[in-house]
Amino acid sequence: MDIREALYTTRAMRRVKPDPVPDDIQARILDAAVRAPSGGNAQGWRFMLVDDKDQIAKIAALYEECIAMLWDTVYKDQVAHANTSDDPDAKQFKSIMNSVTWAQENFATYPLLLFAFDQFDTTGGSIFPAVWSAMLQARADGIGSSLTSVLMFKNEETLDVLGVPTEEGWRMSCCVPFGYPTGKWGVAKRRPAHEVSYRNTWGTPVGFEINEPLWP
Ligand SMILES: Cc1cc2nc3c(=O)[nH]c(=O)nc-3n(C[C@H](O)[C@H](O)[C@H](O)COP(=O)(O)O)c2cc1C
Repeated sequence: MDIREALYTTRAMRRVKPDPVPDDIQARILDAAVRAPSGGNAQGWRFMLVDDKDQIAKIAALYEECIAMLWDTVYKDQVAHANTSDDPDAKQFKSIMNSVTWAQENFATYPLLLFAFDQFDTTGGSIFPAVWSAMLQARADGIGSSLTSVLMFKNEETLDVLGVPTEEGWRMSCCVPFGYPTGKWGVAKRRPAHEVSYRNTWGTPVGFEINEPLWP
């Protein structure tokens, strides 16, 4: 697959089928992850694949509670807005809510989860290039994924289910469910680059406008 196709069409693909992800694809996902950069090449990371149904069921129960907590806290205002308005922001948020609710209700059917952990990461950002590489590699094999951080609301409980040695400094960074998509791949809709980019000094326009995605 063309690298630009993977970059432009790797979305939050939450609706996936329960069919298992073959081992050779799982191997490519992990191998792509460990090719990623990390600060000082420290590779202070661990990855855990979870495909055991009982383990996924335990995580699903936690996930369900976490999403409820998310709506009640971080996104409280957006939820209220989405429920009372029909403006474009409300519509977009409603669509994300529907997709997230699907994940909340169907989490136990995910065939494969990838947990990423970091340890002593002074840069604060060394794990996410690896996670994104894993998601891009999955995309190349036709596997959808969605990066989730919401299990942080039940951090201790999740670490306990997974048997993580927190006394060694390991922290959960995120959980990425994988699976074959039920829908279609599409280009991610975003605010155009020129609206969020500057040149040389803060606030100076970048000098060109990109009003449509540059792929395909
Ligand atoms: C650091 C990070 C944390 C995220 N946490 C969650 C999460 O907890 N639950 C979830 O459903 N999606 C989560 N997402 C996915 C975003 O909601 C998603 O990337 C965004 O809505 C864009 O989706 P799209 O690519 O389909 O347009 C997270 C993404 C990032 C980068």
